[in-house]
Amino acid sequence: MLNKKAGKLVCVGTGMRMAGQLTPLAKSYIESFDVVIAAVPNMFTRKWLQGVAKEYVCLLDHYDDTKVDGKTRRDTYRRMADTILHEVRQGKKVCAAFYGHPGIFACISHMAIADARQEGFEAHMEPGISALDSLVADLGIDPGTFGMQSMEATQFMIYQRQIDPTALLVLWQIGIAGDLTLKRFETEPAHLQIIVNKLMKTYSPDHEVILYEAATHPLEQTRADKIRLCELPQAALKQITTLVIPAANKMQIDQEIVDQLRALSDSRVAWPLLVQVLLK
Ligand SMILES: C[S@@+](CC[C@H](N)C(=O)[O-])C[C@H]1O[C@@H](n2cnc3c(N)ncnc32)[C@H](O)[C@@H]1O
Repeated sequence: MLNKKAGKLVCVGTGMRMAGQLTPLAKSYIESFDVVIAAVPNMFTRKWLQGVAKEYVCLLDHYDDTKVDGKTRRDTYRRMADTILHEVRQGKKVCAAFYGHPGIFACISHMAIADARQEGFEAHMEPGISALDSLVADLGIDPGTFGMQSMEATQFMIYQRQIDPTALLVLWQIGIAGDLTLKRFETEPAHLQIIVNKLMKTYSPDHEVILYEAATHPLEQTRADKIRLCELPQAALKQITTLVIPAANKMQIDQEIVDQLRALSDSRVAWPLLVQVLLK
């Protein structure tokens, strides 16, 4: 049997909405582990965590690193993972909590788990309710109907990507689209115009897109604003906005593949018949 070191790490998600979206398993880790380390922006969730955790460490101040010359969000995320690991190395049972799902667009937990395992500590992730889960429920979109593509807005901008207009496209972090400095927390119409121009190679300027913001507490309204793609540069966006682009075209049958599959099922029907004839 492997001899694991004393420290332990579990990364949990708190869901999108304050209270109610935390799984019982995540809650039990938060309440029972030696220390809870969190990067949770919602003040009420933070207060609740502080109240129930045996010890609480807040990672949010690490974002200030981006104000230092030469440092970017990458340095912030690295330092957050290092802070988590520091506690694990003390031999503590550490619960790292992130809003939404701890592993969706949340590289810190992936880094911390990989580092902890590399150093011989037990580490794992518990799933949480993500913005995508909320989107499916709030907008009534089933990603299985036409298929779904999901990517980060700036990544879509700066890499050559093949978009399938017959499937749903979800662009995360549209509110900081085009930020190459990895320091900013907003975008500008000029940057959004560039992403719109790129999207217009696939979609018409009039294609209806949705600006989605899940409510994060009971007094907040979910935003699901439908606008034309060409209106995006003038739209008010937040850090939490997700851009949802419904399919524009109908799926086309791939007749060659359908014929190959039909031939397979035809031959399966034919084989038992052939066996029966031979055995007569
Ligand atoms: C760093 S990612 C974190 C995602 C989070 N871990 C999750 O599981 O949803 C931040 C992005 O998630 C999406 N997001 C976060 N909060 C949201 C909300 N309340 N409504 C819609 N999308 C949200 C936005 O695209 C935002 O730019």
